[in-house]
Amino acid sequence: MTAVPVVTIDGPSGTGKGTIAELLAKRLGWHCLDSGALYRALGLAAQRRGIDLDAAEPLARLAAGLRLEFRDARVLLDGADVSALIRTETAGGAASRVAAHAAVREVLLDWQRAAACPPGLVADGRDMGSVVFPDAPVKVFLTASPEERAARRYKQLKDKGMDVSLPALVAEIEARDARDRGRAVAPLVAPRGALVVDTTSLAIPEVLDRVLAAVRRVFPG
Ligand code: DC
Repeated sequence: MTAVPVVTIDGPSGTGKGTIAELLAKRLGWHCLDSGALYRALGLAAQRRGIDLDAAEPLARLAAGLRLEFRDARVLLDGADVSALIRTETAGGAASRVAAHAAVREVLLDWQRAAACPPGLVADGRDMGSVVFPDAPVKVFLTASPEERAARRYKQLKDKGMDVSLPALVAEIEARDARDRGRAVAPLVAPRGALVVDTTSLAIPEVLDRVLAAVRRVFPG
């Protein structure tokens, strides 16, 4: 068993993972790890330094020296706020590419595990329950139809004032899914024993209720 209580929330993008993880962490008074932000920041750092996103070793070296901080709701790379920059679909695509390398994932393992601090951690990503925290007592896997996920992303990006096209978004989401599910190392899968919630026709409070009920069965709090 992990000494610090951990709840993992995995799934593809647009399933509501990030929102549910944040709300759950707030409700429990626990820390929240957005592991996708780590890969997104690494992708951005690589592009800034002109490092090929397919070059595993240079990327692993970059990851080992990454100057990344999570401060309140902001992500700082080399001391500068990159919170908005890493949220674009382009950054998501770059993240998915750097995340496909075993050497990169290995370097980031300790960093992610170190986030498990008292009183507890809600960890959001693709392999939180399968690889990073395999002993987590509560594992959740969120799904949703690709159409619904694309529509949610579209609304999110529009609300942030970004210029996006829905068909382009669907294509990007499908390409990213295929890469995340098909990679040899830590592919996106529902971990064994996970509570699987299809969020296609559920509102956020309904998803949160189901997840919270599963957490309360293990941590009556
Ligand atoms: O959750 P997100 O959309 O911010 O993640 C961006 C990409 O990072 C995702 O397409 C794959 C990669 N990722 C990963 O491989 N493992 C994680 N635990 C989190 C993200």
